[in-house]
Amino acid sequence: MDADRSVTGPHLARLLGSWRSSGPAYAALARALRLLILDGRLPLRTRVPGERDLAEALGVSRTTATAAYAALRDEGFLASRRGAGSWTRLPSDRVERKPELSRLSSQSRGGGVGGEVIDLTCAATWAPAGALHAALAAATAELPRHLPEPGYDTAGLPVLREAIAAHLTARGLPTVPEQVLVTAGAQHALALLLRVLAGPGDRVLTEHPSYPNALDAIRAVGARPVPVPMLEDGWDLDMVEATLRQAAPRMAYTIPDFQNPTGLTLRAEDRERLVALARTTRTPLVADETLAEVRLGGPAPPPPLAALDPGGETVVTVGSMSKAFWAGLRIGWVRASPTLVQRLAAARATVDLSSPVVEQLVATELLRDAAPVLERQRAAARARRDVLVAALREHLPGWRFAVPDGGLSLWVELDASRSSALAALADRHGVRVAAGPRFGVDGAFERFVRLPFALPEDVLEDAVPRLAAAWRAVTDGASAGPATPALVA
Ligand SMILES: Cc1ncc(COP(=O)(O)O)c(C=O)c1O
Repeated sequence: MDADRSVTGPHLARLLGSWRSSGPAYAALARALRLLILDGRLPLRTRVPGERDLAEALGVSRTTATAAYAALRDEGFLASRRGAGSWTRLPSDRVERKPELSRLSSQSRGGGVGGEVIDLTCAATWAPAGALHAALAAATAELPRHLPEPGYDTAGLPVLREAIAAHLTARGLPTVPEQVLVTAGAQHALALLLRVLAGPGDRVLTEHPSYPNALDAIRAVGARPVPVPMLEDGWDLDMVEATLRQAAPRMAYTIPDFQNPTGLTLRAEDRERLVALARTTRTPLVADETLAEVRLGGPAPPPPLAALDPGGETVVTVGSMSKAFWAGLRIGWVRASPTLVQRLAAARATVDLSSPVVEQLVATELLRDAAPVLERQRAAARARRDVLVAALREHLPGWRFAVPDGGLSLWVELDASRSSALAALADRHGVRVAAGPRFGVDGAFERFVRLPFALPEDVLEDAVPRLAAAWRAVTDGASAGPATPALVA
């Protein structure tokens, strides 16, 4: 097996931070490295520095580095080959993913508030009912104008392409309608991009953790996600650079605004470096802005990633109505160069030909007067976020998380690596969650769980004590079968 990239001694020393603890130094070092691998901060298939380089970077003896690597090799966290060095892996029992966990199941969605089980797997809000009805009424009035046309606009209804272009321009990304392709949501946009830009055997760089359905879409075209771990407070661009240069991915996928699931936002200076790296390595960079509009506070957001590449030669933007308006519309878009838009439209013709006209007209109406709806949706999400934060601090004080400035979920670090056990047991306690490994590759993120704050405050207040009871059962040693498969959005 080849490594996808390597880390240098100083880079690994930075990731390790203060790793020393009680007991022999080699055991403490092995423990710290194991945690980095399990949490996904040191990605799988990464070549680690030689023993001498590691010893030098950490200021320890070579014997310590050798013994730490030997322990990790024995436990199955490192593989080595003479002449090729050592690279990270997981013990084989963790590499096997249960296929049923990555399959989607609509039966398992539970009833949200209506049913017995509170469903915390979906980070999606309810529709802004009044605005949606008004937009639907306006769309119905507008419909007769479109009836003499065939209704097949593979790239999207011209009025909606114009409205999306105007919306992006107002957000600081000058856009013309020819750069816009209307899709059935961001997931469809991503699937089309993967179909056109990548293929079987190709590598696609992703953040780690990342949006599960994006990881599945990459696998669905026969490509392989090459994960680059997120740091606690942002992107590890040294690791991105090493991966772009050494793994030569066919495409890179990023969620720069309120990243799903970490909630982090790519800083302005990091945006410049990321785009420059993609440009010099000629890697198409797909920026998924699905959550960009769900801004709940904090400093003004940096300009959209594509503003650093206005022609769209390197950066392709994916957007959606789903998170700020309503996922049920199934309207999203791609913003790219006009040439790529044409290629995507041609690829789309083999799948679904075009999006429904009425929904496109509704989206057009909503985008024309987006500001008041967005304000209301943001205020509701902010209140829900604060309720979830307060309830977690009260009932589960050992769980750690940063309060995000946007998005619809918290990425929570548990006080034990038992996320899958929690997901499996939670149903019995009346709540459903998506386990951390759903957001990673090869079983990483057992120490994390994503908790959306999309449901109303009283439901969230009800959910957290149930979650605390499930966690008590897990830490008391209870176990269950695999978690019910769920659609994670
Ligand atoms: C980052 C990200 N991309 C894409 C999607 C899918 O969005 P859509 O409903 O527009 O297909 C989601 C939904 O959760 C998401 O969080």
